[in-house]
Amino acid sequence: MSPLSIRRAVRLLAMALGACGGDDVAAAFPADYAATYQEVRDCRGSADHDLRLIRVLADPAARAPYLARDAAFPVGAVLLKEEYDFGDPTCNGPIMQWTVMQRQGDGGDPLHLGWAWQRVDPDRRVVAADDSRCFGCHASCGEPPDGYLGTCAVP
Ligand code: HEC
Repeated sequence: MSPLSIRRAVRLLAMALGACGGDDVAAAFPADYAATYQEVRDCRGSADHDLRLIRVLADPAARAPYLARDAAFPVGAVLLKEEYDFGDPTCNGPIMQWTVMQRQGDGGDPLHLGWAWQRVDPDRRVVAADDSRCFGCHASCGEPPDGYLGTCAVP
């Protein structure tokens, strides 16, 4: 094969692989989220998220309700958890994955607690959407002080 047709074959293969990576759900956060999202919980261990080190960031809409817990989350508001290797105590190394919650409007499945749930890999591929383990566990966080509208952390 000529180099050109090898390149074309590789590109076709990449397209085919990309196409079967789920239902093509887009990640609920922009690639440059760091420019607008703010940290609402700093780097720390998470017993519940696979013993990883984590940071939680909120988009501008989610920030105030997350911190003050006195208002509803507007539809579309995003909470995002950056997950780092447990050997990375300062959260300065590569991000292993993101777990993301995006507030939904009325009409969703009540079991989902009013959020869409995503696990997103470092290439921004959505590897799990609305996994029942997410809302199953978050449901158990309950009411304040432990949980608040489906979230699980006292900020
Ligand atoms: C075994 C229980 C458990 C499971 C499963 C779980 N979570 Fe969580 N999650 C928590 C707890 C507890 C916190 C808060 C403390 C912490 O950060 O560890 C949290 C925090 C979060 C946060 C930060 C916002 C908040 O609640 O304070 C996001 C976003 C999140 N989880 C998304 C997800 C997604 C998406 C999934 C599924 C892919 C998932 N979680 C699965 C227990 C769980």
